[in-house]
Amino acid sequence: MLIAPSILSADFGQLKNDLEQVKKAGADLLHIDIMDGQFVPNISLGIPVMEAINTYSDLPKDVHLMINKPENFIKKFIELGADYVTVHPESTNQLEYCLELIKTNGAKAGIALNPETGLDVVLPYLHEIDLLLFMTINPGFGGQKFIHSVVDKMYEANSYREFHELTDLLFEVDGGINEQTAKICLENKIDILVSGSTIFGSNDKKRIIQNLRNPY
Ligand code: DX5
Ligand code: ZN
Repeated sequence: MLIAPSILSADFGQLKNDLEQVKKAGADLLHIDIMDGQFVPNISLGIPVMEAINTYSDLPKDVHLMINKPENFIKKFIELGADYVTVHPESTNQLEYCLELIKTNGAKAGIALNPETGLDVVLPYLHEIDLLLFMTINPGFGGQKFIHSVVDKMYEANSYREFHELTDLLFEVDGGINEQTAKICLENKIDILVSGSTIFGSNDKKRIIQNLRNPY
């Protein structure tokens, strides 16, 4: 599995250092959470911080937009270095247009599903996206507990991916990842694990990243 540290749990007073540390520790990509205080009950980081991340890290950037009307900001985040942009169908009534914007501006397109949102909402889009993100917490804050009922949705999505031979479609999990829940994700053929508090809360980031990647 690929490991994407979530910058939300970084120390913003020494962001450059944290970015260097996770790269040295073996991170595959950076997960960047953008929140607007509307779609989710929290505000995280915005454009100036995204600029700094782009300046100080050359790791691929996975931008998770938790904002209403993401269509208004997709182009900007791609200009600022986003390689993947993930949008929530719960946050826009222009999902198809969002995916189109992401792709025409040269990034890879992802859809994120809240724990309560069913897979049926995204089935019509699975053939045209690069990434499906399963939220295993209610979005807004790091440090919450993994919601186990989402595993049924992963199972369902795996059957769909196999049956339709969507071999390039990646599955990502975000929320409550630790060594135990990483194991559940591996068993459910997840390709990318996002982890904020577990990675940034550890003094041995290299070891924790290795353990999340191979949780046995
Ligand atoms: C929350 C964010 C997550 C968050 C995960 O809405 O989408 O990426 O940083 O944090 P942990 O790994 O601590 O659950
Ligand atoms: Zn996220």
